[in-house]
Amino acid sequence: MSFVSLTSCLYQKEVDLKPKITVVDCDTAAVTYSKNMSAILKTNCYACHSDFESYDMVKANMTEIVKRINLPTSDKGFMPKDGTKLEDCTILQINNWVNKGGQNN
Ligand code: HEC
Repeated sequence: MSFVSLTSCLYQKEVDLKPKITVVDCDTAAVTYSKNMSAILKTNCYACHSDFESYDMVKANMTEIVKRINLPTSDKGFMPKDGTKLEDCTILQINNWVNKGGQNN
């Protein structure tokens, strides 16, 4: 019994010591489609994906969008293609918007 709780305690400690992403001053709570998502996609994606000007297309592709922007840049599926990885805060904002159901807000 005590072994089990010791293990989970150590695991928790390791997670705390190595946070995956540390971003300060990144507002992910109030992300909306009209204020944030459309601007992010316009800047980084419209050049090749004019279809993403349509909310319905973004919504239909949102799982794939999250997958692609979170890939390592070396992955052939990485987006934006031939570009640089989006800012950590931008990625967090997109992840958050999708996690909340990708609303047309
Ligand atoms: C330089 C052009 C270019 C840019 C910029 C670009 N993409 Fe793409 N994207 C492509 C091409 C070409 C494909 C089809 C090949 C593939 O699936 O990898 C594609 C495919 C995709 C797909 C798979 C579904 C589909 O529509 O084919 C998603 C999702 C996607 N891109 C998301 C994004 C997002 C999000 C951004 C902006 C952060 C972005 N892309 C920026 C060229 C681009």
